[in-house]
This record gives sequence, C-alpha cells and structure tokens, in this order.
Amino acid sequence: MRSLIRDLLASAAPADSVQAAGWVRTRRDSKAFSFVSLNDGSCLGNLQVIADVGIPGSEDLVRMSTGASVAVEGKLIPSQGGEQAWELQATSIRLLGEAPEDFPLQKKGHSPEFLRSIAHLRPRTNLYGAMFRVRSRMSHAVHRFFAERSFYYVHTPIITASDCEGAGEMFRVTTIDPLAGKAKSYGEDFFGKAAHLTVSGQLEGELFATALGNIYTFGPTFRAENSNTSRHAAEFWMIEPEMAFCDLQGDMDLAEAMVKYLVREALDHQDGDLSIFEKFVDKGLRARLEFVADNSFERISYTDAVEILKKSGKSFEYPVEYGLNLQSEHERWLTEEHFKKPTTIFNYPKEIKPFYMRLNDDDKTVTAMDLLVPGIGEIVGGSQREERLDVLLANMERHGLSTEDYSWYIDTRKYGSVPHAGFGMGFERMLMFVTGMQNIRDVIPFVRTPGQCEF
Ligand code: 4AD
Ligand code: MG
Repeated sequence: MRSLIRDLLASAAPADSVQAAGWVRTRRDSKAFSFVSLNDGSCLGNLQVIADVGIPGSEDLVRMSTGASVAVEGKLIPSQGGEQAWELQATSIRLLGEAPEDFPLQKKGHSPEFLRSIAHLRPRTNLYGAMFRVRSRMSHAVHRFFAERSFYYVHTPIITASDCEGAGEMFRVTTIDPLAGKAKSYGEDFFGKAAHLTVSGQLEGELFATALGNIYTFGPTFRAENSNTSRHAAEFWMIEPEMAFCDLQGDMDLAEAMVKYLVREALDHQDGDLSIFEKFVDKGLRARLEFVADNSFERISYTDAVEILKKSGKSFEYPVEYGLNLQSEHERWLTEEHFKKPTTIFNYPKEIKPFYMRLNDDDKTVTAMDLLVPGIGEIVGGSQREERLDVLLANMERHGLSTEDYSWYIDTRKYGSVPHAGFGMGFERMLMFVTGMQNIRDVIPFVRTPGQCEF
C-alpha cells in the first residue's frame, strides 16, 4: 500500500519495502542513476528517490520531468546528506502521467498574481499546498473548539428569504429552465417566492440557540458587494456561534478564545507548513503568532476608540467622527500602531449597526463588538442580541423591516425570550492572519470576487 511521504519522512526506522507516489518537483541525472524529488501533497517536504539506471521503469526516467506523476517502490534508507533524514532507494519506478514542457509550474518562483491565473494548478505549488493543508487543519480545529465546549453544529440554509445584515447586498436566486436555457419566470425566483443566497446564518442560528443553548454554524456565505479589496470575497466561509443566556462579555471572551485556539493550533500542528510562509511571506510570522496566543487582547469602547483616533495626530484619508463607521485604515492603525495587539471594540452607535443588536441603557449605543487584528483589521463581528420584544419591534420599524416577513424571528422574543449573543468570524481572514498572506484570493481554493468565477 502507498505510504504518505509525510509519514516516510518522519519514519523512525529504515524499511525494506515501501511504496510512494507523487509529482516530480525536480530530477537530476548522472550516468548511473537519477535523483527524483517527489511531492505527494501530504506535506511540504519532498522525498528524494534514487533510481538506478537498469531498474524496472528506468527507461522512462527522461520523461519524468517537473510535474509528471510517478509511482515508486523501494527501500527507505538514511539520507546521504540530503535535506531530509530519509531517502528512497528505488527498486522500481513507474511513470503514471507525463507533464510536457508547457507545464506552467516549472521550478522557478511565481508571483501570486500569475498563480491566481492558473488557480486550477496552484495547489501543486509548495506555498499553496501548505495554504490548503493549513486551511483543512483549521477547519477541523474550528469544530474541535466548539465540540470541546459542548456547542451543537447547526446547518443553516444557503438559500434564504431573510436578510441578516440589511445592507441589500445579496445574490438573488433564479430558476433556469434547462430546455429553454434561460431564466424561467415563476413570477418570483424561488418557486414563486423571492429568495437569495445567505449573507449570514445568524438569524437562523438564533432560532437554534434559543432551543439548544449553544450552537454554531460554519459554512459558505455570500455578499454581492462589488468591492475589489484584498479582504473581501463574494463567497467566503463564516463561523457563527450563538449562545443563549450569554451577554456581550461572554461573547467577546469566546471570540478571543477562538482566535487564540486557532493560532495555537497552527503553531503546534502545522509548523512545517508555516515555515514556508515565514520564508516567503512574513519573516516574523511565528513570533507574532506566539505573542497572540500567549497575551491578552485589548478591549475598548467605540467612544474611546474615536477619542484615541482623534488625538492621534494622524491624517487619515477618511474622517474620524463619533457616529461614523470606523474605516479599515482606522482599525488597522488602532491594532497595529497604537495597541500593537488584537483589539476588540465594543458599544457602537446604534445608527451604524443592524436591527438585531441590543440597545444599551444610554439609548445611543448597541452591544456590538468587532475584533481587529494587526495586518488585517476586522476578523470578527458580533453582538448581544436584542431580546426585549418591544425594543426589537421598534428597531425593526426604524430599519423598515416587515414584522410579517420576520414573524418567525419575532417568535423567539415572544415565547421564552432569553439574553443571547453571538458573532461571525471570517474564516478566510483568520487564515490570512495565521499565514501572513495578504490577499483573500490566496487563502480560498476557488476565488469568487468581481470578475473571477472561472470554474
Ligand atoms: O461583520 P459581519 O458582516 O457580521 C455578520 O454577518 C453577523 N451576522 C455575524 C454574527 O453576528 N453572527 O461579518 C462577520 C465577519 C467579518 O468580521 C469578516 O471577518 C467576515 O465575516 N466577512 C467577510 N470576509 C470576506 N469577505 C467578505 N465580503 C466579508 N464580509 C464579512
Ligand atoms: Mg462587520
């Protein structure tokens, strides 16, 4: 049976007969043998194979060029001075699939922009292989984090009739008639009803938190904002816990604990892969992550944040004024240059936040919180929810929302209402943070941004 190269490289002892398979990274020939460096995607490291001329399959060695797929059998022996502790002395080698000269990933460095243009092949590079292994590991860690805290995982719908963020930036669902090959009119789009792709699973999550206690969702989310930034995608993954009998403090505590947990996970378990980000993307990555995992975060109210920004003497592009949204340049200055650590900002003016956030006693602010991290800015947004029926109804009226459309949501306040709170963490932004990658397009396998929908 095929062994993973990751396991072979970590082997405790030599082995007489092992099988491996992978894609050729490089090949060097001498008269009597070739060195074939193989990667199978299981780790960053390559397995060096020594293939003597004359072993079965060696007649194809010349065609085992960069990118070709190869299967090999042989002896695992201590390396004679290669980068790895072990290498494979082949007893047979088999060419599975050639990669002709036009294979785009020849052995030189490529820019992220070029690699995005061949997104279907980029997982075969060292950097993106590492990226997507980290992404997989982090996904498991998200589930583990919640399982350790007895949260239930709820699958909220992708097609919804509700609009959580109220910003109107949604993709509509359309029905296609396969025979006509164009939009078929049902009057409205989803069998006679208007529906769209979810912008957040929160409202549906609240239904389950107010029944099961602590829940979370983790799935794709869609925003039709036509913004071309390095931190926004039209399709991204969001992690949304929702907790019954919980207030803003508990919400902020959970968000901070989760960031730390995921950072610790990357440091402790994806260390090999982090080394490539440290080498090519961010020299101080590990030190920065260690600091985040081990130190407390800053917490400050929106009002105080505005004061600090005003007193900073910095000339920002966008104005800083109580009542205005903080822009990314403000958030980044606070977390990167002022506090120099992750920072949670809470209690925002009610006018700039959605209808579901709980009104504070000052009647001016709501229990919103945003967690900002250096290098990125907002990574988490959440709040305690308005659990008082009369206040919620007044908020909905102010936001122009129909109580009829949201009667199911209102019922959670009508029947056995409880204080509850939750947040959404952008999974891609978290991945940017743990890898140091600067563009959201480089942390998601299939990029969906304005102009990019290739597959
Ligand atoms: O701040 P947002 O819009 O909050 C919500 O959607 C709430 N309903 C969440 C909740 O309380 N359950 O989004 C939450 C997070 C942001 O902090 C950001 O990390 C990420 O989702 N995010 C995006 N990530 C990539 N591309 C986009 N277009 C994003 N929009 C939000
Ligand atoms: Mg937000």
